[in-house]
Amino acid sequence: GPDPREAAFQATVDSEGKIEPKDWMPEAYRKTLIRQISQHAHSEIIGMQPEGNWIGRAPTLRRKVALVAKVQDEAGHGLYLYSAAETLGASRDDMVDALIDGRAKYSTIFNYPTLTWADIGTIGWLVDGAAIINQVALCRTSYGPYARAMVRICKEESFHQRQGYEILVDLCQGTAEQKRMAQESLNRWWWPALMMFGPSDDNSPNSAQSMAWKIKRLSNDELRQRFVDQSVPQAEYLGLTIPDPDLKWNAERGHYDFGEVPWDEFMEVLKGNGPCNRQRMEARRKARDDGAWVREAALAHAAKRAARAEK
Ligand code: ACO
Repeated sequence: GPDPREAAFQATVDSEGKIEPKDWMPEAYRKTLIRQISQHAHSEIIGMQPEGNWIGRAPTLRRKVALVAKVQDEAGHGLYLYSAAETLGASRDDMVDALIDGRAKYSTIFNYPTLTWADIGTIGWLVDGAAIINQVALCRTSYGPYARAMVRICKEESFHQRQGYEILVDLCQGTAEQKRMAQESLNRWWWPALMMFGPSDDNSPNSAQSMAWKIKRLSNDELRQRFVDQSVPQAEYLGLTIPDPDLKWNAERGHYDFGEVPWDEFMEVLKGNGPCNRQRMEARRKARDDGAWVREAALAHAAKRAARAEK
C-alpha cells in the first residue's frame, strides 16, 4: 500500500510546514531540490562574470565599490546555496564537477555579454529585479534551509537592484548619448530577462510536481507577468521604451499584455549556443585550474597539523 511516511510528508507540506534535512522525504523530492538549488548556485557563480567584466572600468570610485560588493555578494549566495544543497546529501565536489563538465544548467541570462556600462545598470534593474520576484516566492518554499537562504539573499538582491536602477536614473538624466546607451542596453536585455522565469507553463516539465510539493509557489508565467507589471512603470519613470510592440495595459485582466518570448533563442542558449556560453565555461575552468595549488596547499597544511597534533 502507500507509504505512510509519504502521507505524513505531504500533510506537512499541505499545512505550510517546513521539511528539514533529517525529515523523511521522497527521493524524487530530494533529487528535484538538489537539481534546482545547485542550478541556482551555479547561476550565482557564473553570474559574477558579466559584471566582473566592468569592475576595472567602473566610472567612479563609488560605483566601483558598489559593484565589487555586489559581485562578492553573488559569490556568497553561491556558497550559501551549495551548502543548502549539501544538507540534502549532495556533495559539493560532484556539483562543481557537473558545472565544470558542462552537465549542469545555470541561468541562460548569464550567457549574454556586458557591452556597455549601461549594461551594469540594466542587469541590476532587470536581472536582479527578476531574481527577486522569483526568490521572494521561494522564501515560502517547503524545504526549510532553502527557504531561509532565500530570505537573506533577497535582502541583498534588493540592494543590487537599487544600485542598478540608480545607474540608469543617472544615465537617463544625463546627456542624449547616455540616454541612448541606456535604451540600447534595455533593447538587448529585455527578452533575455523574461526568459529567466523558464519556459511557459504548458512547456514546463517540472512545474506540476514542484507546485504540488510547494517547492515552487507560483508558476513560471505568473512570475513573468509580475515582472512585466512591475517593470513597465519603472521604464516609464526612466523615459525608456520597452522593446515590445505588443505590450499594453489590459484593464479587464488588470495586467499588461505582452508579446511572445523568443523561445527559439531560449532553447539555443540552453543548449550551449548563446553568445557567451563557451567563454563563461572556459573562465570557470580556468579559475578552478588556477586555484588548484591553493586547495593542494590547504590540504597539505591540514594534514601536517593533524600529524603534529597526534604526536
Ligand atoms: N536558464 C537555464 N535553465 C532554465 C531556465 C533558464 N532561464 N529556465 C528553465 N530552465 C531549465 C530548468 O532548470 C529545467 O531543467 P532540467 O529539468 O533539465 O533540470 C528545464 O529548463 C525545464 O524548465 P522547468 O520545468 O520550468 O524547470 P523548473 O521547474 O526548475 O523552473 C526555474 C525553472 C523557474 C528557473 C526554477 O528552477 C527556479 O525557480 N530556480 C531557482 C531560481 C534560479 O535558479 N535563479 C537563477 C537566476 S537568478 C540569479 O541567480 C541572480
